This record gives sequence, structure tokens and C-alpha cells, in this order.
Amino acid sequence: MIPSLFNPQTRKDLLAVFQTSSLGTTPANLFDTFRTPGIQYLSGSALKRFAWWIPQVVDATQNEEHLLTKTSLELRTVADQHHIIIAVDTRLNYLVVGCIALWHLGRDEQDRDWFELGTLWVHPDYRYHGSRHMPIADALYRRILSENQSKNILATTTNLAAIHLGMRHGMQMISYASLPKKTHKATCVCPFEKTGTHNNMKCPLKNQSCRVRVPFPTWQRVGKPERSIDSRITKPS
Ligand SMILES: CC(C)(COP(=O)(O)OP(=O)(O)OC[C@H]1O[C@@H](n2cnc3c(N)ncnc32)[C@H](O)[C@@H]1OP(=O)(O)O)[C@@H](O)C(=O)NCCC(=O)NCCS
Repeated sequence: MIPSLFNPQTRKDLLAVFQTSSLGTTPANLFDTFRTPGIQYLSGSALKRFAWWIPQVVDATQNEEHLLTKTSLELRTVADQHHIIIAVDTRLNYLVVGCIALWHLGRDEQDRDWFELGTLWVHPDYRYHGSRHMPIADALYRRILSENQSKNILATTTNLAAIHLGMRHGMQMISYASLPKKTHKATCVCPFEKTGTHNNMKCPLKNQSCRVRVPFPTWQRVGKPERSIDSRITKPS
């Protein structure tokens, strides 16, 4: 055990376990009070009191290249399931400044439920490189992963900033072929205009510009598939 601690991958794995444990997330969530002053993270019944977040998030999803458009009904449904977290600026009349959600993808061949982490958005002014320089995306990511450790989750993206964000939270980069086939099919629903193919199982973007990642607990549950490394994406690790 001790010699294996010198293995960089083992150290990264231990860090991923710590980061998502309550020992790691509780102080980090408290620290957000200072790192993202004035921002509150709402979900579940707390969110029900604020109906106006829905049109703001619909708007956001319609105006971002990397996001799938979501309807009011879809957002209301995912909120009822307590599967969305909304960041609001309490100093600006509860302006919606970020969101993250888990979308149900269906069941795999072994009857396990899968969820897709998506609708990840931070208001341009509030991004790390925006005018307010806040790690709101980090706070959202940490909260949704720590509250849903027992769920099987994946996240796909062609956005390098989102890939780096996932890496900071212990997401494990795997190949699409390692996913259960039903889950693989359920997540690959991009339109022809994006993929250039009508057969999404043969999408040329897969494992290239489009990456799939899973949280550490999901990676363990699916049998620790081989992890992929790519010089284009290793910067923040
Ligand atoms: C993806 C998104 C939520 C990330 O928000 P963000 O973390 O505030 O970050 P920014 O967009 O300002 O830029 C990310 C950069 O800030 C830096 N950064 C962000 N948080 C950081 C932190 N806590 N510590 C250090 N660097 C950080 C990183 O260097 C990153 O650059 P990199 O990709 O070269 O590593 C935001 O860009 C967004 O809403 N984009 C539009 C919607 C979208 O594309 N969503 C993803 C769909 S999968």
C-alpha cells in the first residue's frame, strides 16, 4: 500500500475519493461563501419558491453553442426530481447566474439507471474569466456530484473548459465503447448537423473532440475501464 502511494495515478485516485467525500466537500462548500460572495445555490424545495429561474435558463440554453436547448416543462420536471441546482446572485434580485442538472438517460442492460450531467452554464459576467472571476462552475459541479454519489453519471462535451472543469472534480475520462451499449446509444443523440452522420454509433467526433467522463464512484461501479489520456486536455491535472 505505502509504495503504491508513490504512484501518481494512485495519488490522483485518492484525491478524487477525498474530493467527493463529505470530508472534502463540506469545508469546500463552506469556503464557497467567501469565494462566491452573494451567490446562493438552490435546489429542491428551496427552488420551488423562485419560479422565474425557468425562463432565464431556457434563454441561456438557447444561446449557447455547446448546450442542448431545454424547455420549461423539462426544467420543471428535473426540478421536481431535485436534479437541478441553480446559482442566484442574492445581491442582484436573485438573478440566475448558473445551473447544472442531471438528466435521466434510462436503464442499461443490467437494469441500472444512468444520468447525464448537463445544462452546465454560468452567466458570462460570473465566469472565472468573466468580470467577476468566481468559481461558480466549480461550486455547482462539486455539489451535484457529492449529492448524487450513488447514481451512475456520465458527462459528454466538446467544450475544453468543461473538460478541464470535470478533471478538477475527479471525472474519469473513458472511451465511449466502455459505456453500457444502451447508455452509449442514449447519450449519442446529436443531430446530423453536428456529427455529419445519421448513425451516431459511428460518430467521428467520439473520443476525439467529444469526450465522455464519469465520476470516480461510477467509474468503480462499471468495472474501472481503461482511462484515456490526451495531451490536448491534460493541462489542469
Ligand atoms: C463551461 C462553463 C460553465 C465554465 O465556466 P467557468 O469555470 O466559470 O470558466 P470560464 O468559462 O471562465 O473559463 C474556464 C477557464 O477558467 C479557468 N478556471 C475556471 N475555474 C477555475 C478554478 N477554480 N481554478 C483555476 N482555473 C479556473 C480555467 O483555466 C479554464 O480554462 P481552461 O479550460 O484553459 O483550463 C462556462 O464557460 C459556460 O457556461 N459556458 C457556456 C455553456 C457551456 O458550454 N457549457 C458546457 C456544456 S458541456
